[in-house]
Amino acid sequence: MIVTIDGVAASGKSSVSSGVARALGIPYVSSGLLYRAATLLGLEAGVDLHDAPALLALLDNHAPRLEPLAEGNRVWSGTRELTDALHSSRVDAGVSVVAVLPELRAWVDAQLRALPEPFVAEGRDMGTNVFPHAGAKFYLTASPRIRAERRARERPEDIPAIEAALVRRDAKDQVQSAPAPDAQVIDTGPLTLEGVIGVILEGLGE
Ligand code: ADP
Ligand code: CDP
Repeated sequence: MIVTIDGVAASGKSSVSSGVARALGIPYVSSGLLYRAATLLGLEAGVDLHDAPALLALLDNHAPRLEPLAEGNRVWSGTRELTDALHSSRVDAGVSVVAVLPELRAWVDAQLRALPEPFVAEGRDMGTNVFPHAGAKFYLTASPRIRAERRARERPEDIPAIEAALVRRDAKDQVQSAPAPDAQVIDTGPLTLEGVIGVILEGLGE
């Protein structure tokens, strides 16, 4: 059984997926962390983020892998943990450039499809492209201002700057971010984190 939770940037996907996964006693997988890992490795190597062959060569060399823990996913490259470096504003700003490259999308999709079920998968295209036959699909939204206020607790920039960057990233991610026709769309704006998790568990019949 696979549950997909897609949505726009900072809509609550990873926190909600973690809560749902813990309630179900299964792992969750954050596809965005793999796009972020490719971006970080590219930035560190000084590679042009539009250059798919150069990025794939880096991924071959560094072989980043996702550790899908229910309490929070981690990413490793050998014995180096990349996780903390993946949420910088520099990676936020570059990741959508990497995410439009078909070769990079194929690399992420292959990593995800190799994982043993059951799990909760979160990202943009989990319910549409990667796991179209998932047993249950959800799509999270919230206004840009609400999302910026939430993310401001995790980034040094002020709320208007974060909001502008989120809106820019949503526009760049638009192609792969359409909700699946069979997804339940949840506006998380008026809900608490526990409230969103509750709506999903109810949708799953838990
Ligand atoms: P995403 O994975 O979509 O980027 P996160 O799970 O990182 O989103 O959530 C961004 C921030 O918003 C986190 O600090 C999280 O705790 C907070 N958050 C998520 N959902 C809610 C909610 N419904 N109410 C309040 N805060 C939330
Ligand atoms: O947490 P946040 O929504 O800010 O980002 P994320 O889920 O970690 O995703 C980071 C970026 O990866 C997105 O802005 C997309 O460019 C890309 N992404 C994607 O294209 N497809 C996915 N399934 C997941 C992420």
